[in-house]
Amino acid sequence: MTRFTVNGNPTDYQLAPDTPLLWALREASNLTGTKFGCGAGLCGACTVHLDGAPVRSCQVPIGDIEGTFVTTIEGLSDDRSHPLQQAWIELQVPQCGFCQSGMIMAAAALLKDRPSPSREDIRTAIGNICRCGTYIRVEAAILRAAEIARGG
Ligand code: FES
Repeated sequence: MTRFTVNGNPTDYQLAPDTPLLWALREASNLTGTKFGCGAGLCGACTVHLDGAPVRSCQVPIGDIEGTFVTTIEGLSDDRSHPLQQAWIELQVPQCGFCQSGMIMAAAALLKDRPSPSREDIRTAIGNICRCGTYIRVEAAILRAAEIARGG
């Protein structure tokens, strides 16, 4: 058994220790906002926060994260009020939408570290892949979210 806290809920997982966090979240906790893209740590569709830092959950065995705190897209806010969620809706960022949870979680980690990121900061920090090529809108929405967070 492995115990860690997901979106504020302490949870016991009766899964093999080498089970990827992604599958614990999706299959055992039914938190399907986190997506499976490549399964190889390359695309970022599975990005969640582990103790506040962005990780690719397909690459994290749950046996390694006993006692940690995980946040998924479902835990970012209760009511879509996070500045990134507001900006994403305002700028209509998604196309197919598949990668967007991971994009937002990566962006949320960036904004926590750098509340006023430059375009260069965004390009350096967000390595997530979007098959629809929404990168221009993603960048604009992160800048807009930073503005919203400053009260703008
Ligand atoms: Fe984890 Fe692609 S599914 S990085």
